[in-house]
Amino acid sequence: MNILHSQADWIARAREVLPAAGFGNFDASIVIARGQGSHVWDEDGNAYIDYLIGSGPMLLGHGDPEVMEAVLEQLPKGMTFFANNARGIELAEAIVDAVPCCEQVRFVTSGGEADMYAIRLARAYTGKPKILKFEGGYHGMSAEAQMSLAPAREVNFPTAVPDSAGIPDSVAEEMLIAPFNDLAAVASLLDEHDDIAAIIAEPLQRIIPAQPGFLQGLRDLCDAHGVLLIFDEIVTGFRLAYGGAQERYGVTPDICTLGKIIGGGFPLAALGARAGIMAHFDKSAVGSEKWLMQLGTLSGNPVAAAAGLKTMEILRRPGQYDRLRDLGQRLMDMQSAALSDHGIAHRLCGDATLFDVYFTDADPVDYRSAKHRDPMLNEVWNRSLRSQGIFKSPGKLYPSLTLGSEDLEATRSAFRNAAKAVADHLGM
Ligand SMILES: Cc1ncc(COP(=O)(O)O)c(C=O)c1O
Repeated sequence: MNILHSQADWIARAREVLPAAGFGNFDASIVIARGQGSHVWDEDGNAYIDYLIGSGPMLLGHGDPEVMEAVLEQLPKGMTFFANNARGIELAEAIVDAVPCCEQVRFVTSGGEADMYAIRLARAYTGKPKILKFEGGYHGMSAEAQMSLAPAREVNFPTAVPDSAGIPDSVAEEMLIAPFNDLAAVASLLDEHDDIAAIIAEPLQRIIPAQPGFLQGLRDLCDAHGVLLIFDEIVTGFRLAYGGAQERYGVTPDICTLGKIIGGGFPLAALGARAGIMAHFDKSAVGSEKWLMQLGTLSGNPVAAAAGLKTMEILRRPGQYDRLRDLGQRLMDMQSAALSDHGIAHRLCGDATLFDVYFTDADPVDYRSAKHRDPMLNEVWNRSLRSQGIFKSPGKLYPSLTLGSEDLEATRSAFRNAAKAVADHLGM
């Protein structure tokens, strides 16, 4: 180990120049040096099986040879142009082919940016100001999205609480908050307020599944009230199915946002809708009053588009989603078996393509019921997994298509030891 470049050295350097010693995303006590296939390595050379996969984009694993080839083919032709380019146009075509609600798309650089424009687009189209959002729903970092994302105190619905400093109260006045999976609450808000532009929802909220009929219920209520339905598919797009959650659940929103997988690991996201809605990005179609100005230096970046296009081409091959679901289901079953062996009450929550464990005996249905009753248990679980070379976020486990049988066996053994650690913590 080169002492000058040990992980501790990088952490110390980060502490000097980065607030909270990091990029704001993830545990700053680990510095990743590289990723290959199903693994990442830290700066001390420790290997981990990667179930974080860049928070979702690296569904094919790190350094997929075909994606690398596509990127390397594009690089010498130019890295960014701020102008239309063929790869970006092809990527837009591929998204329109895949995603039911998209007749047209607009590229941006991050998922949060896509959500911000989706909200603005709904307001431009309907001429109404308010947005209904679900408590605990994550839609990036815009002022609207920061309302009741992870509220520390419980207030009565539909009051919005900002989770970030620096947001004026006036933003909260334009937001209505409802509990996820509570159709009656949404119905009564739509009855009471005739100035709602859109409902924005994650079709799988974090890892909480929509109950049967909930998403269709939202669709019907939106139609009845002239409100647009926005699905935030930044995570679920090209993961739950090739056509995203809207394909898997059979409910088509008016607008959706996409990110992560469509950029193949590079900064690229998009929002899409039918042409009549997307017309608000076209001044010549809607006139200057109704025009939504939108541009960005890196929008439609050709390197990101090349990586995304190749990733999507690979995902279209027969059997990919069956295999992903099979891998995910096996991981869920292993986890459940390890915990059940110790008699530890738990629920595996989510979808086979992303999930995590709750130490509870009731299925979480919304933000409040999904709050961990004993957060220490998840901490013990996650800490044990990390110490055994399992790299995951504290609240999610993302399977990738690159996992092999050795990875699964190593993970099974890590789950067993982590279950033992939780049992010990509980004094069982
Ligand atoms: C559902 C959802 N929406 C939006 C975002 C924001 O995307 P980005 O981090 O690319 O801004 C995320 C990020 O994880 C997300 O999970």
